Amino acid sequence: MPAYERIVILTGAGLSAESGLSTFRDKDGIWNKYRLEDVATPEAFARDPEGVLEFYNARRKSNAGVKANAAHEALARLEKDHPAEVLTVTQNIDPLHEMAGTRRLIHMHGEILKALCAHCGAKEPWQDDLTTDLVCQVCNRAGGMRPDVVWFGEMPYRMEEIYEALAACDLFISIGTSGTVYPAAGFVMEARSAGAHTVELNLEPSEGASLFAEAIHGPATEVVPAYVDKLLSA
Ligand code: APR
Repeated sequence: MPAYERIVILTGAGLSAESGLSTFRDKDGIWNKYRLEDVATPEAFARDPEGVLEFYNARRKSNAGVKANAAHEALARLEKDHPAEVLTVTQNIDPLHEMAGTRRLIHMHGEILKALCAHCGAKEPWQDDLTTDLVCQVCNRAGGMRPDVVWFGEMPYRMEEIYEALAACDLFISIGTSGTVYPAAGFVMEARSAGAHTVELNLEPSEGASLFAEAIHGPATEVVPAYVDKLLSA
């Protein structure tokens, strides 16, 4: 195994599944219970702000007391103990990477424990329910407080930094994501054009499985620590 110098990791809901958080597209997934058009678009928020806030209030509550699992911990160990520069890009809005100790982290789809004012763009940590009568502490306007979560049709966060890292990486590892939502689903192609080795660690082959040079299938809490141990012992 070569001595990698710049590693980019992409994670999705499958990484947090064994911590007890639902994924989106598995049979008992979130999009089999809700229509994303009703709860995860700016149009839905404009049409039914209470319904959208209620959906995220329930997801924030489901995050309470949830713990990072062995896969999150292995990724934090990789960042700490491997000589390479490691960047973790997550599609997840849960705080489990931070809880496990990962530091260089980009939440490209935002964070459930942050609120954003739709009027002025101010952001702040937020643990409680969001309601439409809340007044923004910065612009003093009500009705705009929403979860700091990127909705369908909105631009994910820090894309420039992510593409720069992909263009320079020599190892790209995709973990627990179905490879169905862009731009994240296209990151493997960016990494391949950079000449990186590409690996998929997932419960089962994702939509983009054929694009990866290497694929190891199984539960994240098994395949991720095993792969990290291999990288650390190389
Ligand atoms: N270990 C490893 N992989 C798992 C596990 C597990 N225990 N359980 C499920 N998976 C895999 C599934 O096989 C699937 O490929 O994780 C993937 C989860 O896919 P999705 O539910 O589509 O989640 P994700 O890829 O993160 O969705 C991307 O879509 O709805 C939007 O913004 C949302 O960030 C999300 C984005």
